[in-house]
Amino acid sequence: MKHLLTTADLDAAAISALLDLTDTMAEIGSRPVPKVPALRGRTVAQVFFEDSTRTRLSFDTAAKRLSADTLTFTASSSSLNKGESLRDTIETLSAMGVDAFVVRHRSSGVPLAVSNWTHASVVNAGDGWHQHPTQALLDAHTITRSLGAGNSLSGVHVAIVGDVAHSRVARSDVDVFLKLGAQVTVVAPRTLVPGSWFGRGDVRFTESLDEVIGDVDVLYMLRLQKERMASGLIPGGDEYSVRFGLDDRRAALLRGTALVLHPGPMNRGVEMVVDPACLPGSRILVQVATGVAVRMAVLFSLLGHSGESVDASVEAGGADR
Ligand code: CP
Repeated sequence: MKHLLTTADLDAAAISALLDLTDTMAEIGSRPVPKVPALRGRTVAQVFFEDSTRTRLSFDTAAKRLSADTLTFTASSSSLNKGESLRDTIETLSAMGVDAFVVRHRSSGVPLAVSNWTHASVVNAGDGWHQHPTQALLDAHTITRSLGAGNSLSGVHVAIVGDVAHSRVARSDVDVFLKLGAQVTVVAPRTLVPGSWFGRGDVRFTESLDEVIGDVDVLYMLRLQKERMASGLIPGGDEYSVRFGLDDRRAALLRGTALVLHPGPMNRGVEMVVDPACLPGSRILVQVATGVAVRMAVLFSLLGHSGESVDASVEAGGADR
């Protein structure tokens, strides 16, 4: 694997291999000194043109736990403000000896464009409404490990609730969940579902959260992305929360074993009305913790020394502790 640009590049076997590698990386993360030399001598550049807390900091932590050197590019204080182009910026950083770019941008397709301007590996850390592949991997890991069903989601009913139209997370998650065998239901106002999705036969659609909430194994709440939304797509006032929010009444309808996930950042009082800390099935902070291990697995898969197994690298790391 040279790049990770979209989940479309990953089949079920590749997803499973990354989930298994994530287990290894999580074990490293649980050690008293959570650091191995697997990527010593490699340089990872974080190039974020859009705000981030979880993804940026977890990639940074992941790279450091693997002993890579890190560069953090801050668009707001860069020569972009003097008119330098995105391409010249990438070529400039490449000339400094970058081995992998982790790219977030508000426009779909920028990570793919970056991959054409550099010999380094490129990881998509979220581009517009398009894709967020490492989010889907960490979500799949969180769900499969919580359910204890290996890497399969066969027979698992996942409801994805809310603003699917503007969500790169939903596009990546649905792709990965279906490849692992899940049954997926989208719960959303029709105006917040991509038009082409109504014709697909692999995802069920409903506008009634109450109709499905008692039947799901996983409730995946999406952030309402008002910053990406044309006005008039959703009812005003509190109506969105009343129809699609997870409140106390709906939380009481969940099965006792149901998991609740959210990619963050949450809109409290909008899609997440209940305090998630009060939900026994909440895995929201597990998602955050898993994000570090998943990103370690992805960086190691892209940059690990060819021919060297992860076990050998981890063994070397163990000796280094
Ligand atoms: N889930 C997610 O991508 O969060 P950030 O925007 O904080 O990175």
